[in-house]
Amino acid sequence: MALDIVIMAAGKGTRMKSALPKVMHRLAGRSLLQHVLDTAAQLGADRIVTITGHGADRVESTVAAPGLVFVRQEPQLGTGHAVLQAVPRLHDDGTTLILNGDVPLIEAATAQALIAAADGANLALLTIDLADPTGYGRVLRGDPAGRDADEGGRVRGIVEEKDATPAQRAIREIYTGIMAVPTAHLKRWLAALTNDNAQQEYYLTDIVAMAVADRVPVVTANPRHEAEVLGVNSPLQLAELERRYQRAQADTLMEAGVRLADPARFDLRGEMHCAADVEIDVGCVFEGKVSLGDGVRIGPHCVIRDATVAAGAVIQAFSHIDGAAIGAGALVGPFARLRPGATLGEEVHIGNFVEVKNATLARGAKANHLAYLGDSSVGERVNFGAGSITANYDGANKLRTEIGADAHIGSNCVLVAPVAIGAGATIGGGSTITEDAPAGKLTVARARQATLENWKRPTKTR
Ligand code: UD1
Ligand code: MG
Repeated sequence: MALDIVIMAAGKGTRMKSALPKVMHRLAGRSLLQHVLDTAAQLGADRIVTITGHGADRVESTVAAPGLVFVRQEPQLGTGHAVLQAVPRLHDDGTTLILNGDVPLIEAATAQALIAAADGANLALLTIDLADPTGYGRVLRGDPAGRDADEGGRVRGIVEEKDATPAQRAIREIYTGIMAVPTAHLKRWLAALTNDNAQQEYYLTDIVAMAVADRVPVVTANPRHEAEVLGVNSPLQLAELERRYQRAQADTLMEAGVRLADPARFDLRGEMHCAADVEIDVGCVFEGKVSLGDGVRIGPHCVIRDATVAAGAVIQAFSHIDGAAIGAGALVGPFARLRPGATLGEEVHIGNFVEVKNATLARGAKANHLAYLGDSSVGERVNFGAGSITANYDGANKLRTEIGADAHIGSNCVLVAPVAIGAGATIGGGSTITEDAPAGKLTVARARQATLENWKRPTKTR
């Protein structure tokens, strides 16, 4: 039977106090809406209809999912009005799952359980008991006439906080904003909604009372974790949800054997694969796709994005690594910077304040202090001295430097690309190399040292 998904994402998010539409704010590196879409994509829906409004152009151009279509809601007259805009894109039969663009951590298993509860015929609401239900729609249960509402009774409606009586506000079971509903009923009920309420909005939640009147069973399901249904309305809530999400990721890694110095100071904004005996110190941020081999150790306060680190490599404190491949047993940092295209062979050493970009260093090569290697290929066991750089940019083009195996580049050299240094060559400290240097020989390119025998220091004139 057809499954359609509607995601409401038109709201402004006033309390974020931000120029960015609320659903575009990021949690663990992905927008709130993208989290919801990624979960929706696992449910096998025919169509995912996302309702946009506030910042629609921006929202529509930055998210993606299979089967995704956008429908605009302008002006925004409430959640019922939002879903009404999606009606032309929905099947006539089957089930529609309604999700919220600002409730990012809903899990596929919970959504599936809700769809199963709807069973093609029931209105299924995702609800949860909250210690503090303030601000949420309350689930009304009990006698249809409204007498002696008993908490275990059948659902007869949802009342919004602003429309609730003090007694209703005491109810702790809240509607999470997520429901699964037979599409044919949904279409009929939406057409009958009015905005006769405190906020003069078309409330989607009013369809619950319509279902009761139509004798369509209203059932409820609960999420497995509270965090799944927490919404983001403010920077504080966003940060709280981020911490919960990060803690869950940290727990998963630790269960797989990764040793985190402190799970509360760990951030993964992407995907990470760790082999055995990986150790990660505090304050590290991992982004994109990161893979760490057996026994890799990451020191404190490193940023590692889209990188592979082979077995036994050690990344020391405060290193920044982006788009790099690091060989087995390599030693990087502290304070190293590897930029896209940095490829380090086995046992390579990259020390403090060394930057490597689009350069391959073969096994055992070393650049231990204050150096820049860009657009280069560096042979095995090369020693690249302190303060030396490749001058790879002539102001218009990037040019390459080739350094043969076992070459020794002294300190404070400038290798002006394009240039090649032969295998086993030695370059004297302070040289500016503009022509190829032959293999196995010493090349020096600097002014000769001179001492002036009769020179006297000037003295002060009156
Ligand atoms: C809604 C529910 C409330 C529930 C709560 C859960 C209604 C009437 N109330 O209240 O019962 O407890 O969610 O968080 O549905 N949106 C649009 N267009 C609109 C209005 C809203 O797309 O015209 C979107 C918002 O961007 C948001 C979602 O719908 O993603 C929910 O809207 P919001 O205004 O936050 O509803 P609540 O008042 O929180
Ligand atoms: Mg809300």
